[in-house]
Amino acid sequence: MDAPEQSFLREKSLAVEDQELAVGTLEDSHAAKPETDAAIQLPNKSKPDKSAVEKDREDFREAVVKTLDRLLFVHKSFDIYRGVAGLYDFGPHGRTVELNVLSLWRKCFVDEEDMMEVACTALTPEAVFNASGHVKNFTDLMVKDEVDGAFHRADHLVKSYCENRKKDPTISAENAAELDKVIAHVEDLSAEELGGVWNHCSSHEESTFSSSSPLQLDVSNFLWSKCYLRPETAQGSFCNFKDYYNLNGRKLPFAVAQVGRVFRNEISPRQGLLRTREFTLAEIEHFVHPEHKSHSKFSDVAKLEFLMFPREEQEKPGQFAKRLCLGEAVAKVRHVNSETLGYFIGRVYLFLIRLGIDKERLRFRHHLANEMAHYATDCWDAEIECSYGWIECVGIADRSDYDLRAHSEKSGHALVAQEKLAEPIEVEKLAITPEMKELGPAFKGNQKNVVEALEANLESKGEVEFYVCTLGKNVTIKKNMVSISKKMDKVSTWDFTPVVIEPSFGIGRIMYCLFEHCYSTRPSKAGDEQLIVFRFSPLVAPIKCKIFPLVKNQQFEEATKFISKELKSNGIKQDVDITGTSIGKRYARSDEIGVPFAITVDSETSVTIRERDSKDQVRVSLKEAASVVTSMAEEKMTWQDVWASFPLHSSAAADE
Ligand code: ATP
Ligand code: GLY
Repeated sequence: MDAPEQSFLREKSLAVEDQELAVGTLEDSHAAKPETDAAIQLPNKSKPDKSAVEKDREDFREAVVKTLDRLLFVHKSFDIYRGVAGLYDFGPHGRTVELNVLSLWRKCFVDEEDMMEVACTALTPEAVFNASGHVKNFTDLMVKDEVDGAFHRADHLVKSYCENRKKDPTISAENAAELDKVIAHVEDLSAEELGGVWNHCSSHEESTFSSSSPLQLDVSNFLWSKCYLRPETAQGSFCNFKDYYNLNGRKLPFAVAQVGRVFRNEISPRQGLLRTREFTLAEIEHFVHPEHKSHSKFSDVAKLEFLMFPREEQEKPGQFAKRLCLGEAVAKVRHVNSETLGYFIGRVYLFLIRLGIDKERLRFRHHLANEMAHYATDCWDAEIECSYGWIECVGIADRSDYDLRAHSEKSGHALVAQEKLAEPIEVEKLAITPEMKELGPAFKGNQKNVVEALEANLESKGEVEFYVCTLGKNVTIKKNMVSISKKMDKVSTWDFTPVVIEPSFGIGRIMYCLFEHCYSTRPSKAGDEQLIVFRFSPLVAPIKCKIFPLVKNQQFEEATKFISKELKSNGIKQDVDITGTSIGKRYARSDEIGVPFAITVDSETSVTIRERDSKDQVRVSLKEAASVVTSMAEEKMTWQDVWASFPLHSSAAADE
């Protein structure tokens, strides 16, 4: 079997990393300058310079992207109007791969973990994102280039300004340290502070950039009220928490899964599918008791070992991800804050490698404290290495009780769970008696909701201004509207806010990395051409089986129809290629879209089945052909089983 195309890139980039590490280590140990210079400059044939590696990566990427575009896996949206940055369409093969990825996702998470799958709307009222903190926290500062009209993120420009300034050989050590500080803390700055820093940077160099201005998530004014297009599916699941909790028999833990399109106002979308303005997110909100974050199935994943990059390691210079045992990372060293978070890290790992992601190019990186979203208390990203470097593809966060609390406070609906107390206890409660003659005219039929909301707010915050969903606005309760007293009440349950562990899968990013990991080439038989082969697993491949009648005649046509019909009724996506082209060309066409099985009908009673990667073939009776392919496509049988049960068919001559 040919080596996967990208391994040479990996070797080269490891060589560069080694070299950088060597230089870093020498610098850290305050080695004499000549020694450090030698490590940087020594002409060493096994250590390619970084630009050559970059060039290889770019060439590789260009080849992959061109292939994806040519075969209509992924292409620019609205291309006849010259496309729109950050928008991509999946053609038939790409869409089928996406559906296959999602189907495995459903199997691994929704089905195997007994989750509820829901579908909430993408269009979301402003109040929801005010409560969740997105409006305040997810505003990027944007700068426009007045010459070409392109938009850039101010934090990126500040970073690259600082990095460029650092290259100036005349810069003092003090100034360089100052610049390092800005680079390290740019993520911590508020929009206002960042604006100030940007103004300072831009005043030091000639630039065509305008001053900065904030850019929010996508905002659209729909007829009736201000709405946002959601940047994540999670908020719908949070707002409906109480209903799902009741549906689950008022028991914790339970999980709500959601797959849907989300929208982000990316200022300068680059990197194809990795940074788009609309994409599919598959998210799980796992609601759990704050004091019981252990997981009943943790032992299933505890022995897994894979690349992990804890925060403490990242903070040391020159470190990289190391193979760690998940059980130890959770229990012994406590890099991961709970078993439930650890359990999902393990499940995400198993899902990604099952898809076909190379496990040597998959790592779990702990967020640094200044990287975490405003709602998170812990977060690990599944990062996959591709030609763009290490890319976050799945974020696995402990969102604490942040969102449920925020929505409880802002909506007035208590998004809480109940727990039975061992013994009933006496608690002091507020008794609110509505003055109907005041409330009636003020809230017209909504008095009950208002009183409930008022009780919740007064008990939690003592505040009296809040949003009432049914009214669609904030209300202020005046003293004369209610009379308030205190009374003792016996309670046998207590209310608490569950915490949420959330794995959030960017499906487009996973797919792009998968495309790169599966892309390979091999020389044609004549050696004059490189043939492309996508080495998709049968689970992912857009078409599972191609059927080729060797020549056009009635008998082969009937045999072809027979197999095709059987495969269809088994639910196996197949395609018949009856073009008159040579069988070799047909195999090559099938390989480049990654079809794992090819059946060639070359007799009335038996056919051959070809394995894509080795190009080896077996002879199988016409009657058995569809069931053999079905068993392999469904991973109930392996090629090893098939090699052992059927005679090898020698036909190397057929390949291109
Ligand atoms: P980044 O820092 O790379 O912008 P993020 O931290 O904003 O990513 P999350 O908010 O954690 O990402 O989003 C969850 C997942 O959604 C990510 O793990 C990623 O796979 C995906 N994702 C985020 N932004 C985009 C985008 N613009 N295009 C495609 N996928 C994205
Ligand atoms: N739901 C996680 C995120 O989109 O960031």
